[in-house]
Amino acid sequence: MTTKHILLLPGDGIGTEVVAATSRIIDWFSANGAVTFTTSEALIGGTAYDQTGSPLPAQTLTAAHAADAVLMGAVGGPQWESLDYSVRPERGLLGIRKEMGLFANLRPAICFDALADASSLKRELVSGLDIMIVRELTGGIYFGEPRGVKTESDGHRVGFNTEVYHDYEVQRIAHVAFDLAKKRGGKLCSVDKANVLEATEMWRQEVQKIGDEHYPEIALSHLYVDNAAMQLVRAPKQFDVMVTTNLFGDILSDCAAMLTGSLGMLPSASLGAEKNGKIPAVYEPVHGSAPDIAGRGIANPLATIQSFAMMLRYSFNLQAQADMLEKAVSDVLSSGIRTGDIMSAGCKQVGTDEMADAVLEQLEVASKKAAA
Ligand code: IPM
Ligand code: MG
Repeated sequence: MTTKHILLLPGDGIGTEVVAATSRIIDWFSANGAVTFTTSEALIGGTAYDQTGSPLPAQTLTAAHAADAVLMGAVGGPQWESLDYSVRPERGLLGIRKEMGLFANLRPAICFDALADASSLKRELVSGLDIMIVRELTGGIYFGEPRGVKTESDGHRVGFNTEVYHDYEVQRIAHVAFDLAKKRGGKLCSVDKANVLEATEMWRQEVQKIGDEHYPEIALSHLYVDNAAMQLVRAPKQFDVMVTTNLFGDILSDCAAMLTGSLGMLPSASLGAEKNGKIPAVYEPVHGSAPDIAGRGIANPLATIQSFAMMLRYSFNLQAQADMLEKAVSDVLSSGIRTGDIMSAGCKQVGTDEMADAVLEQLEVASKKAAA
């Protein structure tokens, strides 16, 4: 029997609730499959700062490196907003991405048929939507130097950040995106602002080069980010895989999330380069810590549960189990069970734990069916 170790990083706000709900799903797969999962917990974000003085304690990083995969909740909250940038909860998140070399952020935006009416767009624009946004995660303006705020000799303050990309950073993220496009619909759209920003003009050229040399069968297109944002809300189904910079990916993935009906539904995977047979990986919901609803047991755990499905797929190559979990989520939605964020008339509203119960119930049904 194979054993895999998962490090849980619940973090702040609803992070603790959605990770707790998902750990029940992990336990179910551990008891009902070919792989046993062990778990342990560590601190990240504001909670970590409060207890240790750092949003990313050294022990957390050590445990993350040692684990086979990491499942994270969310970080941040109003009580930490006045802290210095260097110790803000968000630094914990950015720090773990950088320290683990998680350069590829996969953010699928899938519209479940049962939720098509929850989208702010018309049903026909989003039903059947299945986009994969590939966001570069360890470079660009998020990490570029110089950065900061200083006071000039004339007394005026000036704030500055720097967009920096090396050709190899663009090439490796392009490979990830092209490989995904190959397994999916064979289309890749690279998003930049090549008409204004030199760094992204270089991005465009490098992506084109990788395409010409290695993936002639993939239909590659390029869009400026303003047009891409517009196209995403005008006709989102034209897209298959999108690849873009750290900052543009941050923005476009929130936009794509809303197409699916709720930010509470979107999972993500952050992957690094394979080393000694292991791919460093952190899985997390795209939504944040939602301090306004934290502690009330009403958060939607489905984005985190689906992040675990991505873990089964990308870290453990358990495709059938990943399919089974994704189908269970889809069946729960079809049965009319909803958390508040995706509630609609005629459905049954439940809390975080009951939503996990409903997923577990569907998993039981599916495994009984498979055994019969
Ligand atoms: C995300 C978040 C983070 C980001 C924040 C919390 C630092 O918005 O994962 O999309 O900007 O990357
Ligand atoms: Mg974001």
